[in-house]
Amino acid sequence: MFMASHIQRRAFSASARQLSKVTVLGAAGGIGQPLSLLLKLNPKVTDLALYDIRGGPGVAADLSHINTKSTVKGYEPTPEGLSAAVKGAEVVLIPAGVPRKPGMTRDDLFNTNASIVRDLAKAVAKSAPEAKVLVIANPVNSTVPIVREVFKAHGVYNPKTLFGVTTLDVVRASRFVSETKGTDPKDEEITVVGGHSGVTIVPLFSQSNHPDLSSDAEIIKRVQFGGDEVVKAKDGAGSATLSMAQAGARMADSVLRAVGGEKGVVEPSFVESPLYKDQGIDFFSSKVELGPEGVSQIHPVGQVDANETTLLEAALKDLKKNIEKGVEFVAKNP
Ligand code: NAI
Repeated sequence: MFMASHIQRRAFSASARQLSKVTVLGAAGGIGQPLSLLLKLNPKVTDLALYDIRGGPGVAADLSHINTKSTVKGYEPTPEGLSAAVKGAEVVLIPAGVPRKPGMTRDDLFNTNASIVRDLAKAVAKSAPEAKVLVIANPVNSTVPIVREVFKAHGVYNPKTLFGVTTLDVVRASRFVSETKGTDPKDEEITVVGGHSGVTIVPLFSQSNHPDLSSDAEIIKRVQFGGDEVVKAKDGAGSATLSMAQAGARMADSVLRAVGGEKGVVEPSFVESPLYKDQGIDFFSSKVELGPEGVSQIHPVGQVDANETTLLEAALKDLKKNIEKGVEFVAKNP
């Protein structure tokens, strides 16, 4: 009897040792709310911290009634509130910023979102420099370099802990292929490399179960511009929020699984990467193996066919400009 309860207590304290505070910045938004809901349902999250310039405490009060074990706290939109929200976080997700309206590219969001992400990055650099930072705010190809520059300026940059979330491109590719081929999306793992906008999104169908699709211009375009379908259908009310929340929650879960010691967790994401540095491109999304420290190993792009080589060339050209734009923004507007 004594032994059993003793063992139980030990098991409990062993699992309780992995305390994982997860913070959402922009938690009351279209993505922020369903993302926070999914994180509240994730048993790996022990403390959920919600911050927004408006509505954080309300979303937190609502979610806090869900009967899962984690605590939920909403923070006031003040510098102190922001600092407390991120302090001690294992993972910080940033979906704060304006979404697209019909006819806009992600780059059109730059002027508004660059300063939002810069300011949030400053707070994370000061109060949670060791957190894994998952940037959702667009244009990801530029906002991720912005976070790097801010972290560098604060002397806390660690390339292993900064991620641009491109999971939605992978999720879409898998779903679109399954629709075309009449298969189960869970069996369709499509590697998507490059960046997160238009032609910088490069699905590598030659490496999938359906190499024939690598010359199918229609499905390639659908993966690259899938976000536009949602923007158009929402007709001015924003861009993908629910599918993005699912993708963001999956990415956060993968990061936490790796933090907990699970091996072989791989998620394509936009990270500082050696793959195209010789061409002046510091960030690139390819398959990334995750570890307790964040990025553990960056996989090469692997074998691609002639068509994909052309797609990659176009992607690299745009990526270079998008990355430089982010770096220049922080240089001019520190
Ligand atoms: P939304 O407008 O519904 O929500 C944004 C939230 O951010 C709002 O609640 C707003 O109050 C908050 N916010 C604004 N400035 C803030 C600040 N300084 N600090 C804290 N919170 C702040 O927008 P939605 O639909 O949630 O999209 C958010 C971002 O995510 C957009 O930039 C969008 O383009 C991007 N996105 C990224 C995707 C990806 O695959 N990485 C996919 C879809 C959207």
